[in-house]
Amino acid sequence: MNITKVIIPVAGWGTRSLPATKNIPKEMLPIYNKPVVQYVVEEAIHSGLRDVIFITNRDKNVIEDHFDYNLQLEATLERNGKQDMLAKVRAVAEMARIISIRQKRALGLGHAVACARDVCSSDDAFAIMVGDDLMFGMTPGIQQLIDVARSERKPVIGVMEVPQDEVSRYGIISGKESSPGIYTVSSLVEKPKISEAPSRLAIVGRYILTPEIFDCLEKVQPGHGGEIQLTDGLQLLAEKRGMLAVKIRGTRFDAGNWAEYLTANIYFALQDEELRDDLVQRLKSLLP
Ligand code: UTP
Repeated sequence: MNITKVIIPVAGWGTRSLPATKNIPKEMLPIYNKPVVQYVVEEAIHSGLRDVIFITNRDKNVIEDHFDYNLQLEATLERNGKQDMLAKVRAVAEMARIISIRQKRALGLGHAVACARDVCSSDDAFAIMVGDDLMFGMTPGIQQLIDVARSERKPVIGVMEVPQDEVSRYGIISGKESSPGIYTVSSLVEKPKISEAPSRLAIVGRYILTPEIFDCLEKVQPGHGGEIQLTDGLQLLAEKRGMLAVKIRGTRFDAGNWAEYLTANIYFALQDEELRDDLVQRLKSLLP
């Protein structure tokens, strides 16, 4: 399987993060010193994905601008001898090849993915990474899925175990563990009631899919919340092609959830040696 493209949907409203996201895309909120979406693109690049397809909208141009040169800023940094900073901002511009596709109405994650049909339908397989889902571990989350997709030649989705009282926030799978941490998916359900969830294995925002998903998504009717749910398309793809779920090893932060967003900020700031001691002292002083 040759996998070089990644679809990153960033066209949602970000209503959980209002009022912060009234005029700033959720995916551009900073986590320590980088916007959320930069972490996602870096994970893709470190996993060998080179072509980034943003599913975007009229208010989100700032996302693609972030991955482009800013010549005036660069000239100013050069003039002022700020070579370190200059290298950092140039590296972001040179990180990936970017394609932008407009989702003209935010009709759901499944609809957002379907917008990429024309650029992905000739590929063996491609990745999808949700633009506000951050994952960290020894091996990048999407790389863990790519490895299994290449060896098993099947669509693969990322899952993580969540507490019972959180299952209603996620798509949940049922399946049989075929080898440690790898499940053969039999069904998927979006945001089930706690009493109806078939397991605690929640779909997190990482997928390796094949182009059959586009025909599947065309058949999907609006589901939970009136949106075209990717999970409903995945159910059809699993029936047609088979599907594996891989339990991703690592830590995950949903940037659309304030507690997780703030924890991610602290997590990354604590990795910075120069900031660490000062930050720890200040955090301690906030606690009773
Ligand atoms: P979410 O459901 O977390 O994002 O979708 P949202 O709708 O923006 O947020 P809330 O729930 O209102 O706070 C996950 C990802 O899918 C994108 C979002 O931008 C986000 O990165 N998305 C969602 C789309 O691109 N299009 C859509 O129609 C819906």
